[in-house]
Amino acid sequence: MRDKIGEIERIAIEEIALASDADMLEKARVKYLGRKGLITELFKNMGSVSPGEKGEIGQLINSLKNTATKAFDEKARGLLGGRGTGAGKIDVTLPGIVHDVGHLHPISKTIEEISGVFISLGFKVVEGPEIENEHYNFEALNIPLEHPSRDAFDTFYLADKWLLRSHTSPVQARFMEKNKPPFAIVIPGKVYRPDATDASHSFMFHQVEGLVVGDNIRFSDLKGALTLFARQIFGEKTKMRFRPSFFPFTEPSAEVDISCILCSGKELRDAENAVHKCSLCGGKGWIEILGAGMVNPKVFKNVGYDPEKVTGFAFGMGVERIAILKYGIPDIRMFFENDIRFLRQF
Ligand code: PHE
Repeated sequence: MRDKIGEIERIAIEEIALASDADMLEKARVKYLGRKGLITELFKNMGSVSPGEKGEIGQLINSLKNTATKAFDEKARGLLGGRGTGAGKIDVTLPGIVHDVGHLHPISKTIEEISGVFISLGFKVVEGPEIENEHYNFEALNIPLEHPSRDAFDTFYLADKWLLRSHTSPVQARFMEKNKPPFAIVIPGKVYRPDATDASHSFMFHQVEGLVVGDNIRFSDLKGALTLFARQIFGEKTKMRFRPSFFPFTEPSAEVDISCILCSGKELRDAENAVHKCSLCGGKGWIEILGAGMVNPKVFKNVGYDPEKVTGFAFGMGVERIAILKYGIPDIRMFFENDIRFLRQF
């Protein structure tokens, strides 16, 4: 009897393991646990067991029944994979739980897009601290204490001469002090200005700075890089214009415009043939997008480079401005309000 119990257990477990679908498993279940099943038969044969062994044999058959039942249940769960509607089963026809999947903020996206253009030209991405000191935010960049140009880069002051950087240009000086030319870098990051908040001003915004230093870097290299950038971001037809300007850390300096992405400089007329001023460029046909220039020799001296040996160009642009133009966003504050209805659109 004991041998028989052992043998049935062995083949039952094997058969359960081999069952590859619910039908096979059900047949096996009937074969062992059904009303005329092999295990059920064992109970019926108890009559022929000697009284002295009844207790032990009974226990063996019971434990075989439990083992087999458990094995069948487990296998059934595995085979059904949650199908069916009985208690404990999962109804896969119920709607699933939809998880909120996030994505990049439009500003991060724009930073990645801008950096991407320059990365494809061989630039490396570098970052620097948002809490700066006067030396890097001003002096190293040739903005002396008493010079009126400091006004344009005014900022928030913290304790002990620390301040929030008002542009990403300080990272130019920090990077040059620690690295030797030639190199080409872009520097994305947050900057701060004590401006009253309105549709086009924010006390915090983002810039992407560019700096290329090496042997015989020319103004035409700056033009080439920026032209490629404008075409990739605003479309192949985009034109560029350089206007003379002033930044203490570049010489010569330029303000760079792109042809208006709304009117392309063409006259807009309504149904009555009356001329309308373009709402984006005000009829000028051009929109300013960034500041740029050749690195001022004084900046090279300040970081220990020999201005006779190296030249370079630098540029800096506001990320919000690029995103506002690219996506037609009417108000800079929308970037920072965290309104899901706005953010979802990007
Ligand atoms: N730092 C300047 C600004 O914030 C932009 C700039 C960067 C201009 C590099 C020239 C060269 O306005």
